[in-house]
Amino acid sequence: MLSKKMLKMLNDQVNLEFYSSNIYLQMSSWCDSKGLPGGAKFLRHHAEEEMMHMSKIFDYINDSDGMAIVGEIKSPKSEFQSVKAMFIEIYDHECYVTKKINEIAGVAFEEKDFFTFNFLQWYIAEQHEEEALFKGILDKFEIIGDAKNGLFFIDQELSKMATAEASAESGVE
Ligand code: FEO
Repeated sequence: MLSKKMLKMLNDQVNLEFYSSNIYLQMSSWCDSKGLPGGAKFLRHHAEEEMMHMSKIFDYINDSDGMAIVGEIKSPKSEFQSVKAMFIEIYDHECYVTKKINEIAGVAFEEKDFFTFNFLQWYIAEQHEEEALFKGILDKFEIIGDAKNGLFFIDQELSKMATAEASAESGVE
């Protein structure tokens, strides 16, 4: 049974994961409009991953005798100064998501709600991966640069990364 406080925190996280999905969906559209198909593919795939993150919490709440609530989700930003600026925003957003997951895990531990604490371990590992993923992309901008030629290579790289992630998820090597 979830405490009132925990139910609210988990529902807020449902909302945040939904919002994260919409952020990446919108960013994929922006990349598409700028002639960056690799970035569009990568971010579209990431938007789907965020929906999976949302669904897992949604189901956990309902399986724990709570009621998941789909709240109001604000519109994501649709204009960016540059691709690099956009990825800096993504990295910052993922650090914020990590902070929220850690806060929920902290409360679960305080409340001795070990079902939820255990459930959140997957998210803690996932956030570690996501921060590393986006930090790695920012590092590529530092190495390759974000002028025209550099962007071309980064876009190709993002396309390959999206394909590799999709293959790993479907169990195809
Ligand atoms: Fe679900 Fe990228 O955090």
